[in-house]
Amino acid sequence: AKEPVRVLVTGAAGQIGYALVPMIARGVMLGPDQPVILHMLDIPPAAESLNGVKMELVDAAFPLLKGVVATTDVVEACTGVSIAVMVGGFPRKEGMERKDVMSKNVAIYKSQASALESYAAANCKVLVVANPANTNALILKEFAPSISVKNITCLTRLDHNRALGQVSERLNVPVSDVKNVIIWGNHSPTQYPDVNHAIVKTPAGEMPVRELVAIDEWLHGEFITTVQQRGAAIIKARKLSSALSAASSACDHIRDWVLGTPEGTWVSMGVYSDGSYNVPAGLIYSFPVTCCNGVWTIVQGLPIDDLSRKKLDLTAEELTEEKALAYSCLS
Ligand code: NAI
Repeated sequence: AKEPVRVLVTGAAGQIGYALVPMIARGVMLGPDQPVILHMLDIPPAAESLNGVKMELVDAAFPLLKGVVATTDVVEACTGVSIAVMVGGFPRKEGMERKDVMSKNVAIYKSQASALESYAAANCKVLVVANPANTNALILKEFAPSISVKNITCLTRLDHNRALGQVSERLNVPVSDVKNVIIWGNHSPTQYPDVNHAIVKTPAGEMPVRELVAIDEWLHGEFITTVQQRGAAIIKARKLSSALSAASSACDHIRDWVLGTPEGTWVSMGVYSDGSYNVPAGLIYSFPVTCCNGVWTIVQGLPIDDLSRKKLDLTAEELTEEKALAYSCLS
């Protein structure tokens, strides 16, 4: 039998946490034959509620779940973890300036970076979900210099999956027959959902989405805005932000990273830019990646047309500005 893997979920008493921890305990994230020990962190005001989540995990009697640590102590939470899913953060409240929210999150990610660096397992893989996700991940990277930049990522898989879902609905095909959409850039409304390279399985073989959706207007208009604004649409409908889809996508992100992407398929991940596609190096930016043996690699050589170029640059500019704002909160 495999040794259990310790998986940290921060903000585990929150909405995404509540959807995410049972998925992890069922093997959705690491596979049906991988036992897990869940480490759940939240802050003291949420301690009682966190304990309630722990009680439910015990009650669910998940066969793969070999232990649960529920704590408000960041050191205890980080100790020995091989996977860290960072969902905890400070939400923007009405009337708050962007800089104030950034400043709160920079402080959180700075201190949690240090705890991960000192106490997590060597080679721990980190996924930041909490917003501003890309910039929180960048701060985490800055303050955990001994963690490889290859091990620090942020979640844009939800946007990726939303794009697959929109194409699937439009073409009336199962979502599993659509692949290779791309989310470029920031997990924010400036992100660029790109279908120029996406493929659909048809009875006649694989076909580019572009050939099947003859309507450019949709691809360049409604498709992009629907994906960009989907988060807001869910909040409007549910009066709560997306939680089940965020949790499911976080599992997809880690599963593909650890177990590999299928041959011929790529996924979107927010990763440390090396300057690929002329995206400024040193930003956490969402790229198309393939994963093999637990290592992601940016897909190279995709042709970028003029329209796409502008959109790649626009979201990079926003991230550069966010980075500057985050740094100004540090000093
Ligand atoms: P929530 O407010 O229900 O839960 C957040 C939890 O984090 C709360 O329990 C809170 O007590 C906890 N928390 C706050 N500070 C903490 C700290 N320093 N350490 C540990 N825990 C802490 O929020 P929800 O809906 O679960 O969303 C979580 C985050 O995920 C938000 O920032 C949200 O914007 C983001 N998000 C990101 C998505 C993505 O695709 N990247 C998609 C959806 C949400």
